[in-house]
Amino acid sequence: MQKLIVHGGTKLRGEIELQGSKNSALPILAAAYLCSGKCVLHNCPKLTDIYAASRILNSLGCKCTFSGNTAEIIPSESDYAFISDELMREMRSSIIFLGALLGRHKKCTVSYPGGCELGPRPIDMHLAAFRKMGVEISENFGKVVCNVRKKVHGTKISLAFPSVGATENIMLCAVLAEGETIINNAAREPEIQDLAEFLRRCGAKIKGDGESRIVIEGVEKLGGCEYSVMSDRIACATYLSAVAGAGGEAIIHKACLNCIEPFISLLDQTGCSIYTLDEGIYVRSGLRLKAIESCIRTMPHPGFPTDAQAVFMAALLKSDGTSVFEENIFDCRYRHTDAMKKMGADIKVIGKTAVVQGVDRLYGANVEATDLRGGAAMVIAGLMAEGTTEVSKICYIDRGYEEIEVYLRKLGADIRRE
Ligand code: EPU
Repeated sequence: MQKLIVHGGTKLRGEIELQGSKNSALPILAAAYLCSGKCVLHNCPKLTDIYAASRILNSLGCKCTFSGNTAEIIPSESDYAFISDELMREMRSSIIFLGALLGRHKKCTVSYPGGCELGPRPIDMHLAAFRKMGVEISENFGKVVCNVRKKVHGTKISLAFPSVGATENIMLCAVLAEGETIINNAAREPEIQDLAEFLRRCGAKIKGDGESRIVIEGVEKLGGCEYSVMSDRIACATYLSAVAGAGGEAIIHKACLNCIEPFISLLDQTGCSIYTLDEGIYVRSGLRLKAIESCIRTMPHPGFPTDAQAVFMAALLKSDGTSVFEENIFDCRYRHTDAMKKMGADIKVIGKTAVVQGVDRLYGANVEATDLRGGAAMVIAGLMAEGTTEVSKICYIDRGYEEIEVYLRKLGADIRRE
């Protein structure tokens, strides 16, 4: 089993170019299944979750190959519309393939993706929307069996919560459906816009992405296209948090400031200097960070992203004062706090609230990654600690960060994979 060995105490200094976005590339790979022409995706991050999506595409008869950060997807002509239990469980967001399957087939079966490290991950909103679009669904022994009499049809869907996955799934199902689909209370995350832009380049008719009302007019057919996936805003928040927590200065290239504005505005309140450059961000962190006075509430975009909660918490562990987090998206997203406490952090978790009292020192420890972002947060805490931190179970981190140790070494961190 691999682990990351971090020797803390070094200030970071350097420049990195961000990886492509995992949460954009995954639905775009699923969207490629809808296309009748070849798709070439640039800036695809080299991650275990991305390879899992490619295995799903190949199991459905497509030919998905990688050359560096470019994926090529040759469409499938097969009628095979079943995703095995094993493939569905490799990656929790595999459910995103259901919308794409429904866009092409009258019958399809996938397994229920089940719960995950962040707590239960229901798909009720996805299934309710598909039902409204004319899909008969039965759930038997962990399988979701779908039948469509004629063709999926457009309808008006109002989501109870702006779920990212449900919005993406409905979009995938709607682009080839008959008539118009309207999604009210749609998720507004930048990754939704990236998916919409990819689909438009393939011939889809979509308006309103990035706003809470998305309108999709179904088309007969989608071609293929060559597309470059947006850069990863959460990786950006992660490396900015690392510099903020460990001290130093860095330039993060290919960063989209608008995409992580809610994070940047809080980082600014810690006393870090932040400047925008052409397609990049410069950050400098000198003295002890200031704690955040207002409660840091995770919210759907354009609120503070839940995916940045753990890494920002790490940056604040040695801050001057008390910061309060409120996690509003997932039930179990404070599991990293036990490891942080083992390293000397002062954190109290009560329900969805975590109170972080800044400490003078953190100490290296052996810790286990509990989930993707929590694992990255432990690495950041390791950079801020005295002595050596060993982070094991880094398979979680590899799901979302392309060689995190290589990126951090470019910033001067003393970190290696063993
Ligand atoms: N939810 C339901 N029913 C549904 C769908 C969602 O109750 O049918 C609940 C979820 O249980 C959760 C909340 O709604 O409590 C938000 O879920 P959402 O559907 O918005 O999230 P997701 O699509 O499953 C994506 C990202 C997550 C990110 C969230 C929120 C991908 C592949 N995953 O998940 O990314 O945290 O949106 O922004 O895009 C990560 O990258 O570390 C990660 C977990």
